[in-house]
Amino acid sequence: MVEKASRQFFLFLSKNKLLNNSAKKWGLKFGASNVVAGETIPSVIETVKKLNSQGLICTVDHLGEFVINKDEAIESTDYCVKTLEAIDQAGVNCNLSLKLTQLGLDIDRELCLNNIRRIVQTAKKYNNFVRIDMEDYAHCQETLDIFNELRKDYDNVGTAIQGYLHRAQEDLKDLKGTSVRLIKGAYKESPEVCYQDQTTIYDNYLNLIKQHLLGGSYTAIATHDHRIINELKAFTDGKGIPKTQFEFQFLYGFRTELQREIAKEGYTVRIYVPYGNDWYGYFMRRLAERPQNVSFALRGMIKK
Ligand code: FDA
Repeated sequence: MVEKASRQFFLFLSKNKLLNNSAKKWGLKFGASNVVAGETIPSVIETVKKLNSQGLICTVDHLGEFVINKDEAIESTDYCVKTLEAIDQAGVNCNLSLKLTQLGLDIDRELCLNNIRRIVQTAKKYNNFVRIDMEDYAHCQETLDIFNELRKDYDNVGTAIQGYLHRAQEDLKDLKGTSVRLIKGAYKESPEVCYQDQTTIYDNYLNLIKQHLLGGSYTAIATHDHRIINELKAFTDGKGIPKTQFEFQFLYGFRTELQREIAKEGYTVRIYVPYGNDWYGYFMRRLAERPQNVSFALRGMIKK
């Protein structure tokens, strides 16, 4: 009950544009620096170097919410291109994650498509890969449509599927043969489109991962849930699925011991490292997921 209320509260806060805009001027506050790797490209590259030296590979995400004009969308695109250049120059093992709304999806679909093409083309030039995050339900179909257009021309792009959605299984079938990140889903969605019960979400999520793996497709398993990780280790082992066909993904700052433990066992572990001054919405969604994450924030408030 309290957990549900806390989730609703932080998801509500995550959508507050006024707080989001103010937070850009505050610097990384309230413990956000525990889960966001600085505000600039050099700071995120330093973090990636450290993680690489610990046997962890990365994907970086330049945080951005509420992009509402063309200039902001182009600025975000430029930033993604610069990040790919910096990754190449630093020679680190890291790809790029992004959200299509940052590139103008809410403004003009063609603008967004041109922007993402420019980024994927740059990644191609550097032999790198771009992962399109999945956002709230309102953007799900458009995200898949744009991904399907891109995959006609590029093989260095993938997207993500949320296990809490009723439509997830059908969507995943269409993505057979592509690299998919599977997640439970982080947004507040209605019962019409999304399972609400944690056990159902857990079972559906696990089945989707197995479906994609058994289809021979590359699978990014993005969860902090050790029960799922353990079950999938046994499953892939039992089915003879090679460790090169999947990776585990964690968010920066979460379950760091587990990350290292799994990497030591010879699994590929990729850390999703967010950076930038637009940290507010991302941080609120993390607080919503797990009430214990609030202790991060409280410790951060005491330290600052
Ligand atoms: P969940 O929060 O369901 O917890 C399940 C159990 O795992 C807990 O009961 C506890 O036992 C254990 N556990 C979890 N976190 C723990 C912790 N910090 N410490 C100790 N135990 C813990 N969402 C989205 O909608 N679109 C996207 O594109 C992405 N991308 C993405 C990338 C990556 C790399 C990750 C890890 C996650 C995302 N997400 C996402 C977020 C995702 O949808 C989901 O909201 C969170 O991962 C939370 O679900 P989990 O399965 O991790 O554990």
